[in-house]
Amino acid sequence: MSTHSTRTVVVTGASSGIGKATAAAFAAQGDKVIGTSRNPDSIAERVPGVDYRALDLTDADSIAHFAAELGAVDVLINNAGESQAGPLAELPGAAIERLFQLNVFGAVALTQAVLPGMRERGYGRIVMVGSMLGSFPMPYRSSYVATKAALRGFATAARFEESPFGVWITTVEPGQIDTGLRERRTKYLNEGSSHTADFTKFMAKLDEQQGKGIAPERVARTIVAAAAADRPKPLYAVGSNAPVMFAVRRLVPRAVMERLIAASYGLKR
Ligand SMILES: NC(=O)c1ccc[n+]([C@@H]2O[C@H](COP(=O)([O-])OP(=O)(O)OC[C@H]3O[C@@H](n4cnc5c(N)ncnc54)[C@H](OP(=O)(O)O)[C@@H]3O)[C@@H](O)[C@H]2O)c1
Repeated sequence: MSTHSTRTVVVTGASSGIGKATAAAFAAQGDKVIGTSRNPDSIAERVPGVDYRALDLTDADSIAHFAAELGAVDVLINNAGESQAGPLAELPGAAIERLFQLNVFGAVALTQAVLPGMRERGYGRIVMVGSMLGSFPMPYRSSYVATKAALRGFATAARFEESPFGVWITTVEPGQIDTGLRERRTKYLNEGSSHTADFTKFMAKLDEQQGKGIAPERVARTIVAAAAADRPKPLYAVGSNAPVMFAVRRLVPRAVMERLIAASYGLKR
């Protein structure tokens, strides 16, 4: 990286929600922003200054083509993702695999594509957009929780390998954010499932809370600040009373934390 204004930033999933707000925040501070969407032509409200490119993270050819055209990247924000819900016993294997391909393997492939150049140039920032669910697992979200925990795992381990060379990988865990993601969430529940009552009750409460979530622009500010830090922290969290939640988690035994989460959702224990 030479000067702040010449940073090239890639934001995946820049067509809506957190990715759109993040692309806008980087563009507003003068960075050169490449934003992705599976179908850039369908983006109704484009953020001025963002160079939109096609990328489908479930398609290896699409990732390879996108990466080959990139050039030097200073900052990569692995934001694109999908939300999924359903009892583990009833999640189709193909759905779990697709979720991992999008939320984890796609992000890992892009990270691998940019890391050598960042290391060679002695500067790089990679932000994995995880989820507080990765730190505070909840029922009926096992596949999603697992993808976000996996993403954080890649980031926190590889930091040790790359930070001595000026390349910092970090994770930002948003809590409940009002992006409409819940309307796009894929749900799996067998007809006549014995989970129906609990699943329906839990999802209604979760959706209600997400509707009251903070604005994606607030998450974007955290992502931009993480990417600007000289030594980004291993983990940032924003929304859902994150400071209180993580403080309580440090203080109380895991079993107690589990009971607190269950109680807050009216779940049987
Ligand atoms: N909203 C929340 O409460 C919340 C909380 C914690 C974490 N997060 C995480 O934050 C990130 C953004 O979420 P959001 O709420 O902003 O969701 P969103 O508004 O639904 O945005 C998701 C983005 O991912 C892109 N995307 C979807 N499928 C893709 C694929 N196969 N290949 C490439 N891109 C794909 C979409 O772009 P196209 O459809 O244009 O391709 C879209 O830009 C996700 O990783 C999510 O898990 C969200």
